[in-house]
Amino acid sequence: SAVEYGLDAPFSVEYHDSIPSTNARARDLAGEGTSNVVVLADEQTGGRGRLDRDWHSPSGGVWLSVLFRPDVPMAHAPVFTLAAAVAVTRAAREAGVEAGIKWPNDVLVRHGDTERKLVGILTEMEGEADRVSWVVVGIGVNANVDPADLPDEANPTSLSAERGEPVDRRLFTQRLLEEFHALRQDPESVLDAWREYATTLGKQVRVETPSRTVEGEAVDIQFPGALVIETESGTEIVSAGDCEHLRPL
Ligand code: BTN
Repeated sequence: SAVEYGLDAPFSVEYHDSIPSTNARARDLAGEGTSNVVVLADEQTGGRGRLDRDWHSPSGGVWLSVLFRPDVPMAHAPVFTLAAAVAVTRAAREAGVEAGIKWPNDVLVRHGDTERKLVGILTEMEGEADRVSWVVVGIGVNANVDPADLPDEANPTSLSAERGEPVDRRLFTQRLLEEFHALRQDPESVLDAWREYATTLGKQVRVETPSRTVEGEAVDIQFPGALVIETESGTEIVSAGDCEHLRPL
């Protein structure tokens, strides 16, 4: 097997009532040479999402970033994003919310025919091709927030809305981080865990990558996070893109 991913050093937690962005703070700490920190905030005033979007982060959510320095090539980093999706899905299920994962890392809750977004994950990194210098995995969970206070386009839901009562954020965050640390140190186990919660596998999908659109049946995931799609013209493997679940014909 494997490259040495192990990192046993304990993590310190830096808490902020309010901060522009926990990812930005973790990146700054990385620049100062720090590692193994969790930056946690009650509210973010400048939260960032993928594709440079804003990420609305009112008080009551769980907004956090994990900074670590795994001994892996840059190309393996997507596995940490999948690990975060699995960790947060497990913590949500323990809190009584039946979350599932849409490839690659959207954690959603089904409501009839629609899927509402519960979590956003943004991974950033720096380093050389053969070894990352640092990785920041940013996880934003709509915990105790009213989805009506979040932008509509995201089709949001929250833990408190799903449960009908607030979640214990301390317990939830603890479980999430425990799961994440375990998976982070055992990347081989991440894909199997991911498959267990995936809502995408077996579905007809359309994936928009920066260069093309691939449509077909999603059949599997491959290390470190690529989706395997059976199309009319053969098997395609896509490593990044926006994925849409299509209705069965
Ligand atoms: C997405 O576009 O779905 C990803 C959203 C990621 C949001 C989290 S909240 C904690 C961390 N800090 C940020 O500014 N963004 C991430």
